[in-house]
Amino acid sequence: MKKLICIIATLSILISNAKPQDLTNYDESKVPSYKLPELLVSLKGKPITSSSEWMEIRRPEILSLFEESMYGKIPGTLNISSYRIIETDTSALGNKAIRKQVVLIFSKAGKELNVNLLIYLPKNVVRAPVFVGYNFDGNHAVSDDPDILVTTSWLRDDSAHGVINNHATERSRGIEKGRWEIGKILNAGYGLVTLYYGDVDPDKNDFTDGVHSLMYRKGQTKPAADEWGSISAWAWGLSRVMDYLEKDPDIDASRAIVMGHSRLGKTALWAGALDQRFAIVISNNSGCGGAALSRRCYGERLGGMNRYFPHWLCDNCNKYDGDENSLPVDQHMLIALIAPRPVYIASAVDDRWADPKGEYLSGYYATPVYELFGRTGLTSIEMPPLNHPVMNYIGYHIRTGGHGVFGYDWDQYIRFADLHFKHIKPVFETISGI
Ligand code: GCU
Repeated sequence: MKKLICIIATLSILISNAKPQDLTNYDESKVPSYKLPELLVSLKGKPITSSSEWMEIRRPEILSLFEESMYGKIPGTLNISSYRIIETDTSALGNKAIRKQVVLIFSKAGKELNVNLLIYLPKNVVRAPVFVGYNFDGNHAVSDDPDILVTTSWLRDDSAHGVINNHATERSRGIEKGRWEIGKILNAGYGLVTLYYGDVDPDKNDFTDGVHSLMYRKGQTKPAADEWGSISAWAWGLSRVMDYLEKDPDIDASRAIVMGHSRLGKTALWAGALDQRFAIVISNNSGCGGAALSRRCYGERLGGMNRYFPHWLCDNCNKYDGDENSLPVDQHMLIALIAPRPVYIASAVDDRWADPKGEYLSGYYATPVYELFGRTGLTSIEMPPLNHPVMNYIGYHIRTGGHGVFGYDWDQYIRFADLHFKHIKPVFETISGI
């Protein structure tokens, strides 16, 4: 019988062209038993017992392990060469907001990279705190606002949305607006800074373009095995946005919240780990390579991700395809790198591909590091019920519905920011459905 099951499994792998490491498990009882790498013991075996030992010894070790085995090292420094404020409107969105459109210009090795920022700030707040996040379809896609410039430099062709020859057209204006609750954000006294991720690195398995190509050594055509994939490149881009925010007198860069969804949620976590200037970090449905524990092998697995999106992580990561247990890190360590700053992890109950439980457990297992700083993370190994957010220095919710960013998610992110920036304790209403 066992033999027969084995033959059927092998045949189905061959027929579907999937590799064993791609195979998805959605059965909690089949999650393998696993042992997470030690968070609070240094590589030399020293127990880490204080926040200063964490900051000085263990944190840098873990950061290097993630660089070498997962996301890849950023190979050098490339600062903003110049920037241009292309447009400012002090009566945008029905006179509620100030809108600015700014282009950051990077020049190196005879090449130039233009990164376009769209900024909305509430008119009634002096030096507003801001949410900072990449969008998927171009700045003009986040709102119907007709004055947002169409600036995307590379997009996957999509005639239904008017993306032709890799350039967006008017037809995609506003297509992503459901994901960006700009009204809620502004009403709550926050600004929004958004940019198209393809400006920094087009999302395709090609390293001749994007920021990578500006940073090559002589003769180099692709990153080395321990050098940056696209997620690291996108994280680099967020830090350069932060460099700009620090120069903008209308923005309080000390209260910048980095937020991202899905692949960009993975990016937000890595950016928040690398750059401690981000005061709060938010991961929305980030899943595998984001908040979800790799060793649970539930939903998407690293082997599958490395196969279908080979450019996201560094090539060294391929060694762990189908062998998550030998990874020197797991994703609770990524969350811990954000300590003692507040971090919020959001899941959706139908987004099993992203392994909601694995996303929760990362926060739970990162909690001992927050405790070294006298801060509370996630204290129960049990996930909270559906639509019942938990908000300490680590926040978490699992909501009704599937993969995406909705008003419900933004309500919690704003509450979480209010709690930490304005010391306003959240009042949770009973939520019957979304
Ligand atoms: C795919 C991928 C995920 C990713 C998602 C997204 O589903 O497998 O890892 O999070 O795309 O970014 O939309």
